[in-house]
Amino acid sequence: MDFRSQATALDALAGLTADALIVVAAGDALPKNFDAALSELVKDAAKLGDFEFKAGKTLSLLRPAGVKAPRLIVAAAGKATLKAARSAFTAALGQLKGRGAAHAAVVFTGFEAGVESLAEQFVLAAQDASYVYRHTKPSAPAAGKLAKLTLVTDKADAEAAKAAKAGLARGEAIGAGIELARECANRPGNHATPTFLGQQTQALGKSHGLKVEVLDKKAVEKLGMGSFLSVAQGSDEPLRFIVAKYEGAAKTQAPVVLVGKGITFDSGGISLKPGAGMDEMKFDMGGAASVLGAMRAIAELKPKLNVVMLIAACENMPSGHAVKPGDVVTSMSGQTIENLNTDAEGRLILCDALTYAERFKPAVVVDVATLTGACVIALGGVRSGMYASDDELAAALSAAGETALDPCWRMPLDDEYEEGLKSNFADVANVAGREGGSVTAAKFLQRFASKYRWGHLDIAGTAWKGGASKGATGRPVGLLTHFVLSQVKTGR
Ligand code: BES
Ligand code: MN
Ligand code: ZN
Repeated sequence: MDFRSQATALDALAGLTADALIVVAAGDALPKNFDAALSELVKDAAKLGDFEFKAGKTLSLLRPAGVKAPRLIVAAAGKATLKAARSAFTAALGQLKGRGAAHAAVVFTGFEAGVESLAEQFVLAAQDASYVYRHTKPSAPAAGKLAKLTLVTDKADAEAAKAAKAGLARGEAIGAGIELARECANRPGNHATPTFLGQQTQALGKSHGLKVEVLDKKAVEKLGMGSFLSVAQGSDEPLRFIVAKYEGAAKTQAPVVLVGKGITFDSGGISLKPGAGMDEMKFDMGGAASVLGAMRAIAELKPKLNVVMLIAACENMPSGHAVKPGDVVTSMSGQTIENLNTDAEGRLILCDALTYAERFKPAVVVDVATLTGACVIALGGVRSGMYASDDELAAALSAAGETALDPCWRMPLDDEYEEGLKSNFADVANVAGREGGSVTAAKFLQRFASKYRWGHLDIAGTAWKGGASKGATGRPVGLLTHFVLSQVKTGR
């Protein structure tokens, strides 16, 4: 998709050259200084009962009188928020689906959000609508003919053109990151193996100038990652521990470290999951996919700070070699862990990655994981669960989520939640009771993240969608990218 911006007088929109003109409007009327021909058409449609300025409503006209573009789509957003703008634009794109337009010119009017944010979401909405998974389904039909989108800004607004440019660039970088994350996560477990994730990272390193290191079992043994190794030991698919570094500031500057859970298939292991829906556990590397996607976006946006990405990748499988309930393993931190449920494997691979992160003397570490079904029960698919060791970090993650329209919600870390993790046979057990499952998982991780500021995102509900539109969402690439960008200003 080709994205551009163009400044025009608001009363001259009818003269724009494009296959389709899309007007996305907030509020209950078009502004007074808006193009007269367009305003008349909209008023007329309202009179006929064909259009209302209400969220979700669209007006689609062919060869509208007085308009140069052969198609006009007006999409009402209702509210003036960024989120409403994006949904209305998505609805307008839906109207163009299956039609012949290759180039659409788009104008947003009446929104409280700045041009930069609108431009970013304009790109992301279009990217989202045009992505089609085809790696193992080459017959999948194309999303549509649309190949070029022009964001039209108000000529009277001197700052708008510059803001649009910056927003488009950020949208394209994040959009490419989201697409990479979706593509990796959508690929089935027999394709998206730990080896594949290592190769994808190597490829990203080459194309985007990242330093990449892919460690195999031998190297992981040498590091003493007994917990990570115990999860991988039931599978014939070799594990990988993947390290990528983006250097955008002096080497002495403490980096932001992003850690991803990369379980490329979670059968539950000996504590086997039920069969129904188990296929969706190919998405259990959604955390890894999202940190990889965020690295891509960061490498394109080139912020002035250092970022390290860590991915622990393996399968969780039952076999004669598999770790058993009751087994006790020694983590890289030295803490022993009793495995009471082999299906609580995510925390067992992350804890060693969190210990590994210490060597970077990080400014902050954020891990991302499809960690618990309990988080899906708590927050559904709207907001990711967010945990943070301090309020400032929580606020930064929260703000990043809102700005990116990739929201999260802070969850508690009271020490009382740790009670259930006590074990008679090890320093800690890998599961507590059923209650507060997302929180107890976070409490487990926190034991391994005491040496730095730490954030944790439980994306079990947000990383993918089930049902007819089953597929990876690419979340939280947007949140992570905005979070990393926000860390530049604070000088950390
Ligand atoms: N990958 C799952 C979490 C998950 C489950 C994500 C369903 C999305 C949908 C994780 O490894 C897991 O199995 N967690 C267990 C933990 C339990 C055994 C304490 C869970 O949530 O049931
Ligand atoms: Mn599991
Ligand atoms: Zn899992």
